[in-house]
Amino acid sequence: MSARSTRDAFGAVAVGLHWVSALLILVLLSVGFLMPDFEGGTKTMAYRSHLALGALLLLLTLSRIVWRRFDEKPEAPPGIHGLHKFGFEAVHVLLYVGLLGAAGSGVALSIQSGLGESLFLGDGSIPANLWDFRPRIAHRVFSWSVAALTLGHVGGVALHQITKSDVMSRIGVRGVPSRESSRKQA
Ligand code: HEM
Repeated sequence: MSARSTRDAFGAVAVGLHWVSALLILVLLSVGFLMPDFEGGTKTMAYRSHLALGALLLLLTLSRIVWRRFDEKPEAPPGIHGLHKFGFEAVHVLLYVGLLGAAGSGVALSIQSGLGESLFLGDGSIPANLWDFRPRIAHRVFSWSVAALTLGHVGGVALHQITKSDVMSRIGVRGVPSRESSRKQA
């Protein structure tokens, strides 16, 4: 696989950024929802990890946006036209907006509330009043939007893989059964 994408498939850089980002999104959503209910040292570790991995995801998302500008852009998968193509592209754009919004509001919340300073330079205490800071509301809206869009994205990919063509191989995962592969076998 070459570093750059082609008209038919994503290259190694785009594939790597996609799968590392996907993993970080799943970890951030799970830890983000669960961490307020943890206690003691586990809670401090969970908050530290969430902030550090969130900042890493922000950097990766910015890198993806820059890399897309220089990389070849693969065509939409075969079988996607008209309104379906519009929806397919809109989910991708909204995912970028959601990720930037979630990460940006998370950073703003951590700075405004002093949480980041306390976790990485201070005694590790977590302010009890995070909802008093406006970015807390924005962070909920953006992070829940990312969760909904990720579900839509995964559902759309699964549906396309089952009913139309092998989209998983375009993003570096070969051997996933698809309508195409079962037709070839028949
Ligand atoms: C795209 C990246 C991110 C995702 C998907 C994400 C996801 C989440 C989720 C799902 C929650 C729980 C939301 C709720 O129930 O209202 C949460 C809370 C939180 N996140 Fe993030 N987050 C991201 C980035 C960040 C970053 C970069 C920071 C800070 C540097 C951050 C700091 C926080 C804080 C302080 C909370 C509040 C926890 C509380 O209320 O006790 N997040 N995040």
